Order: sequence, then structure tokens, then C-alpha cells
Amino acid sequence: MNILGIETSCDETAAAVVKDGTSILSSVVSSQVEVHQRYGGVVPELASRKHIEAIVPVVGEALNKAGLSLTEIDAIAVTRGPGLVGALLVGYSFAKSLAYALGIPWVGVNHLEGHIHSVFLEDDPPAFPFVALLASGGHTSIYHVTDHITLELMGQTRDDAAGEAFDKVAKMLDLGYPGGGIIDRLSKQGDPTRIKFPRSYLDKASFDFSFSGIKTAVNRYAATHRNQIKEHIPDIAAGFQEAVMEVLTHKAIHAAVEKGCDRLALVGGVAANSRLREKLKADAGHKGIQVHVPSIDLCGDNGAMIAAVGYHYLVAGVDAALGDDVYSKIEMT
Ligand code: KG4
Ligand code: ZN
Repeated sequence: MNILGIETSCDETAAAVVKDGTSILSSVVSSQVEVHQRYGGVVPELASRKHIEAIVPVVGEALNKAGLSLTEIDAIAVTRGPGLVGALLVGYSFAKSLAYALGIPWVGVNHLEGHIHSVFLEDDPPAFPFVALLASGGHTSIYHVTDHITLELMGQTRDDAAGEAFDKVAKMLDLGYPGGGIIDRLSKQGDPTRIKFPRSYLDKASFDFSFSGIKTAVNRYAATHRNQIKEHIPDIAAGFQEAVMEVLTHKAIHAAVEKGCDRLALVGGVAANSRLREKLKADAGHKGIQVHVPSIDLCGDNGAMIAAVGYHYLVAGVDAALGDDVYSKIEMT
């Protein structure tokens, strides 16, 4: 089954064609980073406008790269939420109209379930059940995944998402946007042990996160060292990154142990972080837990992960009705 996956929940217009939920025939991502960069964050109204401009060419390119015409698409999967409502509506309305015009089934899927499915697009996908750590710009949560469409939320952030903390710290230090990749690169030149930022574990038995305290700690450190800030930046970046990754790693492994799972998936934009990939694999390895991480291209938002999860809903007989709408916040459906 060839599924066209469409994703427009935030600042990437993405489309992909995926065969049988696992093999990527094409994946096209058009980023709006340049538009939002000067504001240090995503401006919802601008995001919607850019999606409107990009959606037709991006879907066209995905079909071209897959070497397929519209009539060879069997179904459409599209992100229904969570995300920016105006942005979601562009992809959702487009998918709905296209499916209606072609007379093919379509399904609206949860963006977070999409991220979790990015590991099924790789050669060695995890067997069920497994624990997934999802860390992105909008969410940071841990799930127990028992089959393709059944997930239990074990814990989530009570304030900022991990990627959001990276973006806010980068903005605070005037490093640019988005902050994740920039801090990741700068950390390689810094000493992660020189500045000890707080690790917030909350209740040790809880799988919830909190990243607002560390953000304030970085702000305070930067204010006190205002005069020599340039020379401190790599150490601040490395110290901040290490603190966030230690908490993410600890809680993810603890969750896997609690569920008796020897497989752990790391997904979402923050899964691109080099230190997190290295640390989670090493620490989980010591406990006999195998870590599944998608390639860097599949960590950020993309249409392939949406097609991958959509496939399993369609196979289970779940599709969408013409009257269905997007949602900004609802957790897993
Ligand atoms: O999944 P994603 O593309 O969009 C959302 O669904 O939010 O994640 C974007 C987030 C941003 O906050 C970005 O700074 C972060 O992922 N990110 C990283 C890295 N690359 C992207 N965070 C840490 N290290 C990275 N290398
Ligand atoms: Zn995402």
C-alpha cells in the first residue's frame, strides 16, 4: 500500500510516500527556519502562510521522487495534532480535499505517534513491547508501546519540553535559532563538568520532567558572568546539555527497567543530539537494553513517519470522516 504522508504541524512542510508502513519511496521536507529565525521562535501566522505556499510543490516533489502519479497513491495520512492549529489546518484540509477528489481513504494521525514510528522506517525496528523517549520542541514524554496503535503515557514534562529549553537557552545567549543543533555543536568545544547546572529529577519514582529550573540557572549564570560571556559559552552549552541529557537518559532507562523492556526507542527532534545518542546507548547497554534511534533525517518532523503510523490505522480499519477536525493539544487518541 502506497501512502502519501503529509505533515504541517509546526514549521516544516513535509510530504513523503511510504510503502507498507516501512519503506520510504520519497521524503521531502521544506523548512521555514529562515522565516522564523529573526524572531527566535516560530510565529504561528507566518507558519500558516508558508505552509500554504509550500504544500502543493512539496507534495508534487514527493510524488516525483517516488516516481508515482496521484492515481498510484492508495491512501493519505496527515497530521491531525497536536501542533499549531493554523499550520495543521493547511495540511489537513489539503489532505482531506485530495483524498476526497481521488476517492481514496485517508486518516488523521497524532504527530507524537508519528515520531514514535520513525524507528519503524529503519532496518532494525524494535519488537514490541518497548519504551519510547520522545523529546522534541513541543513535547518530552515517555511511553510504553505495546503495539503500533497502543501506547501508555508514563510521564511527561510539567513545564518546558527539552527542545524548547535548548531553543530558549540559545536565545538567551544570543546563539541563534533553533538552539538544539547550535548547542550540540558548541558543546563539543566545552567542558561539561566545569559548570554544574541543576538536574531536576522531581520525585525519583516519577517519569515526569521539568526543564524550567535549569533554564533559569543558565540565565543567572550568564548574568553573573556577563563580562566574560564569550569565553564561557562553550562550557555553558556543554554543562547545560549534559544536565538535560543525564535526566532524559536516567528516566528513560528507569522506565524500561520498570516495564521489564530490553528495548528503548529515542525519537523526536532532540534525538538528533549527539551526546544523547551516545549516552543513552552506552548507559542502556550496561543494563542490557538495546536502543533504537532513527537516522538524523527522521528525527525532525517529516511526512514519512506520518505515513508509517497512518498505515497501521488504515490496516486496522480506522480512517477519517469528512467532518473531522484538527486539534492543538489533545494527547494520544
Ligand atoms: O520534532 P521536532 O523537529 O519538532 C517538534 O515536533 O517540536 O523538534 C524540534 C526540536 C527543536 O527544539 C530543536 O532545537 C531540537 O528539536 N533539536 C535538537 C537538536 N536538533 C534539533 N536538540 C538538541 N540537540 C540537537 N542536535
Ligand atoms: Zn515533531
